[in-house]
Amino acid sequence: MEAKRYAGEWSVRYIEPGMTIGLGTGSTVFFAIQKIGELAKQGLTVKAVASSDRSEKLARELNIPIVSFSSIDSIDVTIDGADEVDAQCNLIKGGGGAHTREKILAYNSKDFIVIADSSKLVEKLGKFPLPVEIVPFATSLTLQHLKATGCEPHIRQENGQDYITENGNLTVDCQFKEILHPILLDAELRKIPGVVATGLFSYSMVTKVIVGYSSGLVKEI
Ligand code: 5RP
Repeated sequence: MEAKRYAGEWSVRYIEPGMTIGLGTGSTVFFAIQKIGELAKQGLTVKAVASSDRSEKLARELNIPIVSFSSIDSIDVTIDGADEVDAQCNLIKGGGGAHTREKILAYNSKDFIVIADSSKLVEKLGKFPLPVEIVPFATSLTLQHLKATGCEPHIRQENGQDYITENGNLTVDCQFKEILHPILLDAELRKIPGVVATGLFSYSMVTKVIVGYSSGLVKEI
């Protein structure tokens, strides 16, 4: 947890007064939002758009002004976590079930800053099952097509029931042996009707990755 805190707290140095900031979701972003709350209390004026109800609730509790997706033209900087970061800074995201909104934030941000503890660094993506959000219509057909890409697809469960995203969809966790070509795989998966968004984020979206270590060291990649 400390390593996540170091990365999260470090990231807020890239926030400037007047910025519109995107807030990701997860236990690492939690520390960044807390720090932004402290800065807001000291007079930093920013507005934020959140990728989940959880992050929005936390931001509101800390008096960080929240605006809706539809009311903004662009985002200055988005800060978000990751489940895996490979050697080129391609990411797997979506462990927290919010990757579709997170991808919209990242895509529309001038800077996309990823924060992670060092356990998230991998040589190749794929040990972490890839989250894919799908519409809950013709699920078995969509699952067949997902399987044909070379993975074992599992519909995510929560409390014994299908996990429903904040967009009203299902999440399929796709276990690949390894992901050799993340960008090609993302394109292949997105061709399947019924797929809303995958948790693969290309390195080209990423401005920098901030990695926290339990020793207190923070590295920027
Ligand atoms: C949520 C995400 C998170 O950023 C990812 O799961 C990392 O979470 P954590 O910071 O809790 O390790 O993609 O959809």
